[in-house]
Amino acid sequence: MKKKTKKLLCVLLCTPLIFLLAVPGTVKGEKQLFAVAHRGFSGSAPENTLAAFRLAGEAGYSGCEFDIRLTKDKVWVVMHDDSVDRTTNGSGNVSELTYAELSAFTVDGGNGLEKYPEEKIPTLTEALDVCREYSLAPVVEIKGGESGDMASLAKILSARKEKENVVLISFSEELLEALRRLMPETEMWLLTGTVLPSHISFCRKNKIDGISFAYKNNASASIAMVEGAGLKAVSWTVDSAFAARRLAQRGVAGITTNSLLPQELNVKENLFGFIWNKVFNPSSNG
Ligand code: G3P
Ligand code: CA
Repeated sequence: MKKKTKKLLCVLLCTPLIFLLAVPGTVKGEKQLFAVAHRGFSGSAPENTLAAFRLAGEAGYSGCEFDIRLTKDKVWVVMHDDSVDRTTNGSGNVSELTYAELSAFTVDGGNGLEKYPEEKIPTLTEALDVCREYSLAPVVEIKGGESGDMASLAKILSARKEKENVVLISFSEELLEALRRLMPETEMWLLTGTVLPSHISFCRKNKIDGISFAYKNNASASIAMVEGAGLKAVSWTVDSAFAARRLAQRGVAGITTNSLLPQELNVKENLFGFIWNKVFNPSSNG
């Protein structure tokens, strides 16, 4: 056979195969994942801004995660880091600045900044308003404040009738313990890198509903421990549809993601996409 004919034959045989592998299939028989936009839809708008929360709503997520801290004059605001330096044109720690001082700053870092150049640091109330407008469950991570400050958070949530709508999450057992005493009916998850037996005991003792663990850290063992204890297993931050689907198959109830769209979560990632992510976007696998 001529070399040219061989090449042609190879192309003809391989094309349908590549096409088949590249067409995603719908996942049947698996439970729908509770899809949470991490710091809002932070893959497309600056993290923890109202623009990112609106995008999460428009994209159809079930929940919107954001981080809260207290200003010097005890206003709950949305900010991931201790300081405003990384994400805004201001400087200093949130806890050492008043709300009036913080509100002078503009967000100047993050994805999609060119589209959203005028974002300000949102207050908790503003973030909750956007979640309500788009029927997003607010997944509120408490990063700042002390146990004694949790009453003010409970008061805001209770006045807004958010107690059964919101999910409260924290790496701090102390803060969750204080919140559980104040809000017996609210869903709460303990955050952790790796799940340890002590986390399970803490959750059971304090009636914490679930554990959200870092996806890269031994997912199978974490899920087995969490589910074995009758708790909800959730994982952060998952940016590969293949990984999300594997977690769903193993029984994870929800995932937090920077960039996966909710509709991608219930679609089987094709082999092409899997290889692409492994080779060109390795950080998206954890
Ligand atoms: O949802 C949990 C995740 O947000 C915890 O990590 O650093 O993004 O707040 P971090
Ligand atoms: Ca967070």
